[in-house]
Parts: sequence; C-alpha cells; structure tokens
Amino acid sequence: MSETLLESSFAISGTFIHSTITSPLVILSDHCIGVISGKIVFIQKNDNKINDVLEKYNIDVGNIICLKGLQFVIPGFVDTHIHAPQYSNCGKCLDEDMLSWLHKYTFPTEAKFADLDFATKQYWKVVSRVVKNGTTTASYFGTIHTNSTLKLCDVIQSIGQRGIVGKVNMNRNSPDYYKENTTISVQETKRYVQEVVMRKYTLIRPCITPRYAGNCCMGLMKQLGQIARSNEIHVQTHIAETTEECDMVRKHFPENESYLDIYNEAGLLTRKTVLAHGIYLTPEDRKLIRERNCGISHCPNSNISIRSGMLDVRACLDDNISVGLGTDISGGYSPSILDAMRTAIFTSNTIALHKGPNYKPLDYQDVFRLATLGGAKVLDMEDHIGNFEVGKAFDALLVDPCVDGGPIDVFREDTMEDIIQKFIFLGDDRNILSVFVAGNDILENFVRQISSPNDGI
Ligand code: GUN
Ligand code: FE
Repeated sequence: MSETLLESSFAISGTFIHSTITSPLVILSDHCIGVISGKIVFIQKNDNKINDVLEKYNIDVGNIICLKGLQFVIPGFVDTHIHAPQYSNCGKCLDEDMLSWLHKYTFPTEAKFADLDFATKQYWKVVSRVVKNGTTTASYFGTIHTNSTLKLCDVIQSIGQRGIVGKVNMNRNSPDYYKENTTISVQETKRYVQEVVMRKYTLIRPCITPRYAGNCCMGLMKQLGQIARSNEIHVQTHIAETTEECDMVRKHFPENESYLDIYNEAGLLTRKTVLAHGIYLTPEDRKLIRERNCGISHCPNSNISIRSGMLDVRACLDDNISVGLGTDISGGYSPSILDAMRTAIFTSNTIALHKGPNYKPLDYQDVFRLATLGGAKVLDMEDHIGNFEVGKAFDALLVDPCVDGGPIDVFREDTMEDIIQKFIFLGDDRNILSVFVAGNDILENFVRQISSPNDGI
C-alpha cells in the first residue's frame, strides 16, 4: 500500500469499539470505516452495499486494511493533563506530598528547560513514549520558558500527535531561579500565543496555563484570562488537589469565597478550561463548573502516588460535569492512559468500600468512555475527536489482544466485551499496533522517518 494513498484515502474493515453520549461501549463488528484526508467519510456494515460505498468514495481494494484474528480498532486515548518536562522524574521522587514535591523535585527539574537542546531531547522522549502508549491527543504543560515550550510544539507536530500546549505562568511562591515577574509573564504569554498561531501547526493549539492560584497573583491571572477570552483559546490549571494546597491558597486569597471563585474572578472559567484534580471542591463550586462548562481532569495515579486524595468521579458525572483522564506525569508515575483507566477504577472501588452497597463505582465501560469521548469533551474537542462519527478525524488505535509475547491470554469462551475488558486491565503498548492521528499511522512514522535527538541525555 503506498504512503500517499494511505494518507489520502483508505478503509479499515473489522471490529470497531467506541463510546457515544448514550452508551459507554458500542461494538461495531464486521464494519468498514472509510477515511479521506484524515476524516471519517463513512461507517458501514460489511453487507451487500459495501462495494457501492467503496466505489462512491474511490477506495479500491488495495487500500483496505483488513483486521486479522481478534484485532479491533478503538478511538485514540486523550490525556487531559500531563507535564512534559517532568517525564525524567516518572517512577521516582514520590516520597513527598505535593507542595514539598514541587519544591524538592519539580521546580529544579523544570528550571533546566531554559536550555533548548536539553528541552528538545527530553521532549522527544516523552512525546514518543506517550504515543507508543496510545495517546493521540494530550493537553501538555510546558515550563515558564517560551522558546522551549515552542520546541515542545515542534516535537509534537513532527511526531504527528495532536496537542494542546501551554507555556506555564508563575510569579510567586517559587524559588527565584524559577519565577517570572508579572510583566514578563504576560508579554511572553502573548508572544507564545502569537508564535503558535503564526507557525500554522495543523495539530497544535495554544493554551493559557497559570500553574495554580498558589503560584500566580490575581493581577497576573486577570491578564491571562483576558488573553484566553480574546483569543478564544484553551485554559488549563490545577485546583483543589490537596488539603494543604487548599489552605495555602485560601490564605493568599482571603476575599474570595472559594478556590474556584479565584479563577472565576480572574475570568479563567470557560468551556475550554481544564481543571486538574478538583478533589476538594464544594458543591457550589461544582455547580459553577457545570454552568461554565469547564472540564475536570481526573488523575488517579497521581492522586494516590503523592497521596493527594480521591476524586468522586461518579458524583461529578451525576452532577453533569465533564470528566476526562490525565496521567499527570510525574505526580503520576505512568505515561499510559490504560493505567489511568485502571487506577480510576481502583479509586472508585475504594470510595465504594467507604460509601456502601448503594454506591455505583466506575466500571471498565465508564473508564473507556472517560479515556476517549470524555477526554475529548473536557478539551472542548468532541466535535472533532473522541469516537467514530462521520466528519470526525480518524484518531484511532489498532489493538491486537493476542500479540505474540504480549500480556493477555484470550480463551475460547471470551466474548468481545471480555476481550476489551482484558485489554483495559492487562493490556500495554505491545498490544497497540498502529496509532492513527488524522488518518496517519504515527507509530509507523517513528520506524520509518523520524530520527530523534535522543543521545546524550
Ligand atoms: N500543582 C501545581 N503544580 C503542580 C504540578 O506540577 N503537579 C501536580 N500534580 N500538582 C501541581
Ligand atoms: Fe499536574
């Protein structure tokens, strides 16, 4: 199959599994999806009409990928909260609570990203790793450094992932070596946004990224809110992750009614706003989040690893709040959204143990939807990605549950539901054979054309 044809038009035939608004798990067996210029043009049962449909879209037999054995295709995973510069700390430095962890490990690590060469190598590592784990879209925090955050955009675009990327703002409560003054912070944010727009990336969008209210004064946050609203761009920040952080933030903003009220006053709450964690929000806060259509990024691995707490996702969903999953590298130690699905279930089961038998914990279908369509909604991208619908981008994973030497054993009696469940609980990157973003298999790109500047880290 030639590369140009694959890029412009092709079809995949086999089993597709995805979520819709009404159902967390829909299995389309023996179907065919047609893709032209990266977008889904048809979704059709393989019945006697399929040849007519293929002909209508000019897709010839040579451009049909036929899934083998028990292979299936699912939407790509969406990581709604990840700190790209923290990747080198993944799997270590978990012995402190969040605020001390920031000062002891995270700020010193992020400060190194003033060096553009260092940043480039690190960013290739992390983006490659998350793509191999099936993340097709991620909302990334960079650092306070504009040029190295622009480098992160370059790397994501070169690898072919979809990204929402923010230059971090922080003008207080951090060491002098990793802090901005308000004027520079605002100027550099404007320069960052302008530069991202000018570079005409096809896969990257800029994001306003005040680190959290403990690191930004109201004056700075108000100006950032203004930039976000006038450019209609994304916003991401942290909120109510630990009780110590909530106490500290409330001390800095005694006039505000609640933690969320601080961001509200700054004009930072829009439908494009992602609030990470949100464990200790009040019922009034949750109501306002719903009204403003903000999303919550649930990062269960991080919440347990640095002992922050447990978000009651079921309660958020019952309140009609959008929730997606995040790895929160490196508070979370795993770069995999499959891990986030499992740890979300563990957290939810733990809450259920406390709440009693009437509480309905998240199951594998719920977390599958959070990882795909839920994440897309949190990022305000659900019209574009998140599941299989005509007109959406073909962002998808080709999964082989039975790959040689892989982590899953499938038995004769296993149904398709059993197999997807086994993939969620037991699967890993060995099971992910292709990672499509806008119809391009970006895993193949790694092998074929990309030489990453990895040496010498
Ligand atoms: N709160 C402010 N900054 C951070 C960060 O980098 N990670 C986490 N988990 N929480 C934060
Ligand atoms: Fe975080």
